[in-house]
Amino acid sequence: MLIPNTSFDVLEDTRPDDVSMPAFMVSTTRGFLPRMDPIVTLPSEFDAVEDLLQSMPVSTRSGRPGFLATGQLGDEVQKLPDLTETIEKYRGNIPLMNALYRDYSFLASAYLLEPCHMNFMKGEPYGLARSFLPAQLSRPIARCAELTGFKPFMEYAGSYALFNYRLQDPDKGLEYDNLRLIRAFEHGLDPLSSEAGFVLVHVDMVKNSGPIIAGTMSALSALGKQNGADPTVQRKTFNEGLRTVLGAMRKVNAVMETMWGKSKPRSYTSFRTFIFGITSQSMFPDGVVYEGINDGKPMSFRGESGANDSMIPLMDNLLQIQMPSTPLTEILQDFREYRPSNHRQFLVEVKQCSEDLGTKDFALGLDPHYAASADEQKELLLESRRLWVKLLDQVRDFRWRHWCFAREYILKQTSHPTATGGSPIVTWLPNQLQAVMEEMVEIYENVGGQVGPTDLGAECRDIMDLANRQRDTLRKEVDKYCQERGVGVRG
Ligand code: HEM
Repeated sequence: MLIPNTSFDVLEDTRPDDVSMPAFMVSTTRGFLPRMDPIVTLPSEFDAVEDLLQSMPVSTRSGRPGFLATGQLGDEVQKLPDLTETIEKYRGNIPLMNALYRDYSFLASAYLLEPCHMNFMKGEPYGLARSFLPAQLSRPIARCAELTGFKPFMEYAGSYALFNYRLQDPDKGLEYDNLRLIRAFEHGLDPLSSEAGFVLVHVDMVKNSGPIIAGTMSALSALGKQNGADPTVQRKTFNEGLRTVLGAMRKVNAVMETMWGKSKPRSYTSFRTFIFGITSQSMFPDGVVYEGINDGKPMSFRGESGANDSMIPLMDNLLQIQMPSTPLTEILQDFREYRPSNHRQFLVEVKQCSEDLGTKDFALGLDPHYAASADEQKELLLESRRLWVKLLDQVRDFRWRHWCFAREYILKQTSHPTATGGSPIVTWLPNQLQAVMEEMVEIYENVGGQVGPTDLGAECRDIMDLANRQRDTLRKEVDKYCQERGVGVRG
């Protein structure tokens, strides 16, 4: 299925057995999840890597303390052979390259951040991380990253979150209780741990992304057929697409709410040590030198962060949400680079397509060109506007809950000023959240949603009341944290 006016193909059949394609390709069925469940077992030539990964976590599968509990990982990494040549043997199998990328990126992050973890366990500041990645890690990760299109450092989709689950019982599928982690840093091999909960709630949310994509495609396709299409049929199809997206976003947000119970706020900061990036972090003042790569010049990459998930960026692009021109928004753009290349391209194409087809103008129908003559058409236009406001509200809901996560899991637990992706913790999330709420207020006013023949009804009125209240609350909270921590509102 092609995005209108482009050659970008969104898969309807993910062809799970085809190893010639990247593991991550956007589909209307599995959404942003990989085309197949992640590969768990590496070929036997990589047994040394497997053994090290199994003996590495703070608690291993058997429950006994692993190398990260005792600070021995650094020494163990020195014993690892350089298996870069063996990787070449399997290079035609891209999903396997993805599994190797995941596994080497776990080792690389654990190796680099082990000293910070040891300091954290003593209740001390993180201090400095290792800044040199030896060849037995740097060469394989760089090669696998090259073959899969990721950056040579741990990423959210390709490594830590979306390629890191296995099914306990293959017949039960993607039910939450059937999900287990493949790799973990801390206690994550125990499915009831906060580390497992943190990762698996992401998977459980993204599991609902297929209809977000399918609905987006329907809405855009309805607009792509503007010439000669019956306006009533066109708007009905458009609304149906938005309704599908709305239903899926509601599920995503409902699953997100389960995070509180599955991953405890006070546990987050300890496994978080291992998922920091090497950009804008005090632990890596000069980045990291990858032995044998980049002529020995240091490199830096953002860390694993849900900011690299593709659902919210898709909403931003489809709904044409205006972000302010601030340095914080530049960070948002930078995050868009850290994701599977097919996701990245998809987001770019949707943004362009939505702009070219004037999705927002069509949905809001303010231009006389969209003036509805018959009653049925008027009602359908009002329905488009309601759906638009409700979709924005889902984006607000997601970002508001996120702000609450940042407050409870991070701000109240630690004074470290930057998040795992290197964004400033107090101001970055509010930058986007505030923008969504401004957009809602502006649109609701412009369409005259509150009164008269353009009234959007009670549900939208309630939505707007909440958005207005949260806008004020957010301002006050951000001001308070900025004052306490001595940071400027713009980051
Ligand atoms: C305990 C739970 C969570 C915490 C503490 C948390 C923390 C954060 C932080 C601090 C950021 C700022 C970016 C950075 O890393 O530098 C961020 C961004 C983001 N995270 Fe999370 N996160 C959590 C759960 C989730 C979940 C379950 C998702 C689902 C996909 C997610 C998706 C996102 C997105 C989309 C952004 C970018 C927000 C935006 O565009 O405004 N996060 N997260």
